[in-house]
Amino acid sequence: MRESNQLVSKTLGELAKYIKPGVSTESLDRVAFTFIRDHGAVPGFLGYQGYPKTLCTSVNSEVVHGIPSEKVILKDGDLISVDCGVVKEGFYGDTAFSFEVGEVSLEVRKLLDTTRECLIKGIEMAVDGNRVGDIGYAVQQHAESSGYSVVREMVGHGLGRHMHEAPEVPNYGRRGSGHKLKKGMVICIEPMINMGRRQIRQEPDGWTIRAADNKPSAHFELAVAIDKGEADILSTFSYIDEVLSKQSN
Ligand code: MF3
Ligand code: CO
Ligand code: CO
Repeated sequence: MRESNQLVSKTLGELAKYIKPGVSTESLDRVAFTFIRDHGAVPGFLGYQGYPKTLCTSVNSEVVHGIPSEKVILKDGDLISVDCGVVKEGFYGDTAFSFEVGEVSLEVRKLLDTTRECLIKGIEMAVDGNRVGDIGYAVQQHAESSGYSVVREMVGHGLGRHMHEAPEVPNYGRRGSGHKLKKGMVICIEPMINMGRRQIRQEPDGWTIRAADNKPSAHFELAVAIDKGEADILSTFSYIDEVLSKQSN
């Protein structure tokens, strides 16, 4: 599980080098496809319930499941959430990061920072003996106290030989409620946080989920193994952060 999740993390780090104004989301998909195949794995999303691509690339008010396309060209000030999955030796990796394209507004930067913080707060609650409601509560509390809203229809999940396993891991909830977490379980925590209202709609392509009010939305996801004391985080943003820190110099 760690190997698969390290590979998705490295794939996102590779993509970080290419995300800039003028590139198409299809070109990002090609980079990811090749990188994953070159590392002895297969894309995890391709063919999943008929999904046609390696990545989900969701721009601005798209929440999740945006389909890479030659027609979608990134422009300065966009935000793009990139979700990537792999299967390596039968086990899934699944991780997502929301990137700034060129220079984004302060408003968007704050949404990105807060959503990443929501994920960290969720992970802090992901320990043996706690319940999924403790994770959801922590995420929701941080998002809503910052003036944002939590998407309800899509949730985190168990991860293993299948991409979506029990339990569901909502980004909202009540402390002490829901499925009990036990050492050895692997779950994906993936807050989807809207700048405006929480309502979403599906686009006619059958995949893309968009904020109904067309305001920006962010998505960060990590896979963690439940342990006693603190979670063992299987995927990482460190490859991405390394690339981004070099760019801003
Ligand atoms: N990776 C998504 C998740 O985090 C699921 C993508 S399903 C796909 O759960 F078919 F769109 F790829
Ligand atoms: Co994902
Ligand atoms: Co997931």
